[in-house]
Amino acid sequence: MHAPPSKTQSRGAFGSRLGFILAAAGSAIGLGNIWRFPYTAGENGGGAFVLLYLVFVIGLGLPVLLAELSLGRASKSNPVGAFKRFFPKTLWPYVGGLGVLTGFGILAFYVVVAGWSLSYLGRAFTGTFDGAITAEESGVLFTSIISNPTETVALAGVFLVLTAVVVRAGVGGGIELASKILMPVFFVLLLVLAGRSLTLPGADEGVAFLFGTDFSKLTGQGVMSALGQALFSLSLGMGAMITYGSYLPDKENLPIAGAAVAFFDTAIALLGGLIIFPALFSQGVAPDEGPGLVFVVLPTIFHSLPMGNLFAIAFYGLLSIAALTSTISLMEVVVAYFVDERGWNRNKSVLVIVPATLMLAVPSSLSQGGMDFFTDFIGGKGFLDTQDILFGNISLSVGALLISIFVGWKWGAKEALQEMDNFSLGGVWSILIRFAAPIAVGAVLVTFVVGLFGE
Ligand code: PHE
Repeated sequence: MHAPPSKTQSRGAFGSRLGFILAAAGSAIGLGNIWRFPYTAGENGGGAFVLLYLVFVIGLGLPVLLAELSLGRASKSNPVGAFKRFFPKTLWPYVGGLGVLTGFGILAFYVVVAGWSLSYLGRAFTGTFDGAITAEESGVLFTSIISNPTETVALAGVFLVLTAVVVRAGVGGGIELASKILMPVFFVLLLVLAGRSLTLPGADEGVAFLFGTDFSKLTGQGVMSALGQALFSLSLGMGAMITYGSYLPDKENLPIAGAAVAFFDTAIALLGGLIIFPALFSQGVAPDEGPGLVFVVLPTIFHSLPMGNLFAIAFYGLLSIAALTSTISLMEVVVAYFVDERGWNRNKSVLVIVPATLMLAVPSSLSQGGMDFFTDFIGGKGFLDTQDILFGNISLSVGALLISIFVGWKWGAKEALQEMDNFSLGGVWSILIRFAAPIAVGAVLVTFVVGLFGE
């Protein structure tokens, strides 16, 4: 065992602004953009949901992102320590604690879906997507994959171990460099796929679905989902960006870095939508199919691309990598907490976190047809969906509400602005974080809770 390094040494920092942007964008860009965004938009009627999501990203997500990054950089600490640093004898550190718990909860279902992606990658290698496959056949394949408990639990485990290996080593030059090469490749692949999808017969219906605004289809739950999706996609409300902000070098311009992350994340989500919906309408798949949407739709278009199977390999490979850079940030939040607050080393932290997460991942795996009890868990929803709503929507919203109140009022917008390098829009940001964010998030949450009881 090495002697424990001093606190400042052990924390480390990103090498440059680019390094930070890549790691933070790596956290933000993941299954949330390619898997969750299209199916959630599909379930909520399309365009009106997308518009609302964009409003939430700009009006709430970006301000909260800057708030979290500032809090992280100013405190140089994990989410619990960040609150403790400024107000130790208060209840505020529990907000950080909720974040750590949420990180664990999201990780536990996220690795299950990431495991599906690995499974598709394996099948791409064996030539499954070589020839034409109808939406129906693709649906059957998907169901058979996700309802097989042995394979899905094993792959979720593999994904957790991969994550742990990187997190244990510390987020160093490795991922920074890898993201620098792989993210642009991923972006190009997405552009090609969008190009193919948009030229399919009937593609315009998909575009109309994504961008046409029919507010009649938007429910209270849909509004909650749009807020949850904006927060989830930007990795907000649970302290991932507090943690990553704590590694952002002081000399880097924080608002520019934050804006770049939000821009790339949103662009990739929209690109995801531009791939899925045209393909979906041209194949006659229903948009409200749920979590299987992307996995069912994409295989139906690979064969119509030159080198379709190679394309499928590249796509699922990169989707898995995008998921990995997100799971790294989820696990990093929990590890940073154990390292900073409990004095554990990284090794011990991951050795505890991996089995604990896998245990919580098992019921999610089994909820896709493997075991009836988890498939129909609460109110007709399976365990995985329940986890997603609880941690991926509600908890993130509560976290974002409390973080905006803390940064806007308790710690203070003025203090936070000190971290924002003469931010020219500082005045607008203050108003958004002090008033708009807490009022809007609070209102959405209250409406949602009232709706739950009103049913
Ligand atoms: N933003 C990630 C995605 O869109 C998921 C995530 C949420 C990661 C919260 C970290 C924290 O896939």
